[in-house]
Amino acid sequence: MSTPHIAAERGQIADRILLPGDPLRAKYIAETFLDNAKEYTHVRNILGYTGTYKGVPVSVQGTGMGMPSISIYVHELITEYGVKKLLRVGTCGGMHRDIKLRDVLIAQAASTDSSMIRNIFGGTINYAPIADYSLLEKAVANARKMNLPVKVGNIISVDRFYDEDIDNDKLRAYGILAVEMEAAALYTIAARYHAQALALFTVSDHLLTGESCTAEERQTSFNDMIRIALETAIED
Ligand code: HPA
Repeated sequence: MSTPHIAAERGQIADRILLPGDPLRAKYIAETFLDNAKEYTHVRNILGYTGTYKGVPVSVQGTGMGMPSISIYVHELITEYGVKKLLRVGTCGGMHRDIKLRDVLIAQAASTDSSMIRNIFGGTINYAPIADYSLLEKAVANARKMNLPVKVGNIISVDRFYDEDIDNDKLRAYGILAVEMEAAALYTIAARYHAQALALFTVSDHLLTGESCTAEERQTSFNDMIRIALETAIED
């Protein structure tokens, strides 16, 4: 069995998965954090691996960038491979003064300008894509246990990385903490197919200050986020 975008047999993918955008991040996570990781797909160079973390089977797979791309993988992972817990591990741009470079941020909700979400509901409903509460609660508790500070709140998932029309001041005024490009689709599709989803980020750049992380700084906060995500993924 395989799907158009994932070349794996059903049992090869664990029921809990970490989802970085970059396929090489998936390789890095598999090689650095998982035991006995084996590649299960490389269609379009989107790499997927399954291994174990503290003895529990966990997979990790790239999703590409943007909501159309992540939607394809999330749909196939849930509906064809039976994945139940999906944790996006990505980077975001900080937008708010409460958010600093290198912070780990968890998206309680993901506002969006996505036409994908609007197309589902038509013009009358403004759907609120939200994190699975049980994963959110566990992730915050795990971060506390590990003594790693996390911020939690509303973010925005946008369709355009280069967007000269977006009103960042208004978003900030309404408490949007950061910008990224995938979480709203992940939360919406997971809700539709009764799976649990959570999006965690490290703040790689900041829209207020114009700062961005060095590669080394990015790696340290990225590793902290991965540890929080893995500890959360293996809990039942
Ligand atoms: N915009 C959109 N997505 C992002 C950004 C950004 O500034 N930084 C990391 N992901």
